[in-house]
Amino acid sequence: MRVVGCGCSRTLVSRWVDPRPIGVFDSGVGGLTVLAALERALPQESFLYLGDTARLPYGTKSQASVERYALQCAAVLTARNVKAVVVACNTASAAALPALAAAHPEIPVVGVIAPGAAAVVAATRNRRVAVLATEGTVRAGAYQEAIAALDPSLQVTAICCSVFVALAEEGWGEGAVAELAARRYLGDTFAQQFGPDTLLLGCTHFPLLRRTLAALLPASIALVDSAETTAAAVVALVGERMGCGVGAMGTRFLATDGPERFARVGSLFLGRPLLAVDVERIDV
Ligand code: DGL
Repeated sequence: MRVVGCGCSRTLVSRWVDPRPIGVFDSGVGGLTVLAALERALPQESFLYLGDTARLPYGTKSQASVERYALQCAAVLTARNVKAVVVACNTASAAALPALAAAHPEIPVVGVIAPGAAAVVAATRNRRVAVLATEGTVRAGAYQEAIAALDPSLQVTAICCSVFVALAEEGWGEGAVAELAARRYLGDTFAQQFGPDTLLLGCTHFPLLRRTLAALLPASIALVDSAETTAAAVVALVGERMGCGVGAMGTRFLATDGPERFARVGSLFLGRPLLAVDVERIDV
């Protein structure tokens, strides 16, 4: 069916209707920051979110394990007939995006790395950017490579901030403990010494420390959130390749560990209340 101006895009052009949900997966609840951005950007779409909470965190695992987990998560989503897979997890995007795209040539597979890299390249003026991420994302070098591919003249420093993940899940993204952790990772002199004007929050959890980081760093440093930039990339795909949804099913949630913790901690990331009864526990 073809309709005109169904409203899922800011431009009024013809759209295919494809009512299948968009699949989103993450190592756990962090990807709900990406889901929240997607829900805001695409109110006509239905979403199926999978959090691999039983195997969280991915950020400290080997690249081979993360690739295996990611392929299993994507297989769960495609078996449930999604029209695209969004890899909300930065660590999984860094480790597994080529393997995921090769395994699912029939649908778009969107990771957070390329949109995040494009956003920092567009934002920087002094050509120095910093990427904050998990150990696995920093080690994989995917952001560094994606940024260099767009502009090899940029200086990039990538800093692993693993403790931020636990702080965000504890609800301690702001306050004395988060400030201490941020100082420990960035140091009092980071901004002066390296002098970036753009800092990428290259982990699903780090938007919850945005205010702590903004208070520590000079106001001139732009903080780029890979959740928002990924949502924008998916909006473009819906317009160009996927077909517009009809929003009838809203969002459904799957988790590989207990629904109670997923709902309680997930509410912090999603920014709205989540109920355990709305989370289906599955094995992958
Ligand atoms: N979702 C992960 C990421 O964005 C953070 C949590 C984890 O380490 O699993 O890299």
